[in-house]
Amino acid sequence: MEDRVIFFDTTLRDGEQSPGASMNSAEKLRIAMQLERLGVDVMEAGFPASSPGDFESVQIIANRIKNVEIAGLARTAKNDIDQAWGAIRDAAKPRIHTFIATSDIHMKYKLKMTREEVIGEAVESVKYARSLCESVEFSTEDGTRSDRDFLCRIFEAVIAAGATTINLPDTVGYTVPEEFSELVSYVRQHTPNIHKAVMSVHCHNDLGLATANTLAGIRAGARQAEVTINGIGERAGNTSLEEIVMTLFTRRDQMALGSGIHTQEIHPTSRLISMITGIVVQPNKAIVGANAFAHEAGIHQDGVLKNPMTYEIMSPETVGLAGNNMVIGKHSGRHAFQDRLRQMGYELKREELNALFIKFKQLADKRKEILEEDIEALVAEEILRVPDIYELLYLNVVSGTVAVPTATVKLKIRDKEAQSAGFGVGPIDAAFNTIVKMINSTAKLMRFSVNAITGGMDAQGEVTARLQENGFVALGKGTDSDIITASAKAFVNGLNRLEHMKQNPRLSPNESVL
Ligand code: KIV
Ligand code: ZN
Repeated sequence: MEDRVIFFDTTLRDGEQSPGASMNSAEKLRIAMQLERLGVDVMEAGFPASSPGDFESVQIIANRIKNVEIAGLARTAKNDIDQAWGAIRDAAKPRIHTFIATSDIHMKYKLKMTREEVIGEAVESVKYARSLCESVEFSTEDGTRSDRDFLCRIFEAVIAAGATTINLPDTVGYTVPEEFSELVSYVRQHTPNIHKAVMSVHCHNDLGLATANTLAGIRAGARQAEVTINGIGERAGNTSLEEIVMTLFTRRDQMALGSGIHTQEIHPTSRLISMITGIVVQPNKAIVGANAFAHEAGIHQDGVLKNPMTYEIMSPETVGLAGNNMVIGKHSGRHAFQDRLRQMGYELKREELNALFIKFKQLADKRKEILEEDIEALVAEEILRVPDIYELLYLNVVSGTVAVPTATVKLKIRDKEAQSAGFGVGPIDAAFNTIVKMINSTAKLMRFSVNAITGGMDAQGEVTARLQENGFVALGKGTDSDIITASAKAFVNGLNRLEHMKQNPRLSPNESVL
């Protein structure tokens, strides 16, 4: 049988812990469906005990996704394990993932527990989890700063208690490749029953070494890699799935290891995550950055035209960057539109389809061609959004080299319409000031980014606005051919999300329970 790496994707759990990356249940389900298409083996759908909202999203995903193992995270506590099991029990393939910290610094200051107490609690929890679920993963938080013999003892004990996967995390992104590879080898050699479990690695990118460390762990014998799409995650993020998958694929000569990942789905998945979380991928990011396959230097362009292998170690098509992904246009009917949505994995209700079709026609009137990314953007904006309290009905801006930038805005606020005008240092500032004044909001704009979704002069602008109010952080997204309108839509969407958070008591996205 082929020696392969199990891909455990934690975009929906560790990835969601990226500052400002919180998602609603519909968005998470959409991502889960795409991860299934991508071919991950396990997806960690969330941390059910962390909030009722997380419990619900994990449950929705567990009930819907059939071909991927669904993991729910739990601390080594009965209540956490019960919550995780409650959320995933109906999954076709459920997994409970339980963890406790094992470094002296965490045990002494955070847990206030001795090593013996930590082993005792880990064993009890794994036994309990195993009484509920066939597949149980155990992680040693801050593993790379833990005593290596203690790691071997706790791994031996939890495997004896029924753990089927043991995971060694570099929680704070501290290790370096040679050291990590030695640690993985040491654990494999000094844990007598290690062959009864799959060994996994989970790295963070604080020193920019997450990919190198994960590969070092795999070379030393780990056969599960915990990763996120685009490397999103706590602080500097997690190991990025696409980098590990494409290294294994491109350098089969170095590591003869297969995987179940359909590489052509890498780019669509990256795009979706970026659109939903609002976290823009840096242009020079390996594999999925906008420049990853762009050749600027004349000598390079000449070489690539003569033979792509001169400067390309992998083809853009392999990661799903097809040359022409034009899907439908102005003359397409409702049926063609619905078919295309189905191929993209969206099964919409009749009223959703009708609403989206109207928006699609409006866009098709303004644009020569509609790409899959445009449709994704429409779905994200029209279908996946939280129920709106505020709606942008009208925006008119006056701006120029001599005029004072002025915006006139009409909003629907709950069921009432209101109109006002205001000034700013630029047209976008004028629009934002006016909106804030109209709804009496104290929200502050923390980050603002504009992205062209597709190339060309008539590209749609996609705007992400990160807002903060009373400790809540929300990302608003808006798309339009006009970037000022896209900005106002993103701002209003962010305000709606803030309201939604305030009304649904759950963890603020910038609060971590870990
Ligand atoms: O980084 C970490 O230690 C984690 C564990 C919960 C696996 O995310
Ligand atoms: Zn982590």
